[in-house]
Amino acid sequence: MTTSDLQKSKDKLLFTPGPLTTAKSVKEATLSDLGSRDSAFITLVQQIRQKLLELAHVQSPAYETVIIQGSGTFGIESVISSAIPANGMLLNIVNGAYGRRISQMANIHSIPLIELVYHEDQLPNLNEIETIIEDNPQITHIAVIHGETTTGLLNPIAEIGKIAATYNKAFIVDAMSTFGAYDINLETLNIGYLISSSNKCIEGIPGFSFVLAKYTELEKCKGHSRSLSLDLYDQWAGLNSNGQFRFTPPVQSLLAFNQALKELENEGSISGRARRYAQNNSLLVGGMKELGFELYLDKEVRSYIITSFLYPAHPDFSFEVFYSKLNEKGYVIYPGKLSKVDCFRIGNIGQLYPVDIQNLVDATEAVLHELNIELTENYTNK
Ligand SMILES: Cc1ncc(COP(=O)(O)O)c(C=O)c1O
Repeated sequence: MTTSDLQKSKDKLLFTPGPLTTAKSVKEATLSDLGSRDSAFITLVQQIRQKLLELAHVQSPAYETVIIQGSGTFGIESVISSAIPANGMLLNIVNGAYGRRISQMANIHSIPLIELVYHEDQLPNLNEIETIIEDNPQITHIAVIHGETTTGLLNPIAEIGKIAATYNKAFIVDAMSTFGAYDINLETLNIGYLISSSNKCIEGIPGFSFVLAKYTELEKCKGHSRSLSLDLYDQWAGLNSNGQFRFTPPVQSLLAFNQALKELENEGSISGRARRYAQNNSLLVGGMKELGFELYLDKEVRSYIITSFLYPAHPDFSFEVFYSKLNEKGYVIYPGKLSKVDCFRIGNIGQLYPVDIQNLVDATEAVLHELNIELTENYTNK
């Protein structure tokens, strides 16, 4: 389906971090009823689990895919609440809201936790990570967010993975907003658990998250879960024993996801998708800068998934009005989530193409014009 077909469908274009604008073929794949014990469904689930491992450059039985019903947070909570034993300890590296959410999970489940907190525009300090591990030998697991969607920052998982391997710690990576658009090799990056979800860069519809995990780590989860429905080990054991989910599976989301995986392959797999997203992102950043908007993050730490723009210091700028006017024109952007700085965010993932980005930038220019706002140097924020 082309962009003009999408616009004809009257759906607004979603410049958000997900749920995203998806292909018509992906939505159409949901138009089937399939029993959760049907052999066709069991084969579908098996194929999806296998394909996800291939995308991460690993294979069963050394690595396994566990699908968890619910949104991305459910998958992360499944890992946090199942992987860390009562006598273990989590080192959580935090530089945004999603990192903070992992600490919240650890606290709710009374999991011993050390937080290493950085400013939302800062990368973690690798020496500090090593020091904290050396000073706290009780640490068993290290968690970090790959693409911190709060800002669009990309954390250095290769470097942190090396530290995890050196000190023999299990490494948990929230790759919710990057998996499918950044090439991540689970084995070379020493990742024990990677979590992502159906409605991000694979471009499926919402409904489930998935955990790609090392077999030897998964085995250690047995009996440690603090939850019945989020028990990672039992979910895996169930899928492995008869190919079925323990509880009602998100059948239509899985059908859509299977089609989304085919579309990903047609686009040239992860490298093809990365190319389009990077092109979208550079057009977005270039176009918005030309209109006078400033970015929150420095170039070196930014991903090509989502971008945070500072509110202009213009007295007539109101995000609510700006947002509504863009929305009326068919473009949905995203509010900010920063603790101290006023920003809004624009995602460029999903079925968005350079022409859509250009149309969004043109619509933004038109909105500024309607509001009589010209962003000259007088309205800079830095
Ligand atoms: C990095 C990251 N982690 C976790 C989540 C939570 O996912 P969900 O909202 O699907 O529960 C998101 C959602 O955008 C995310 O970007």
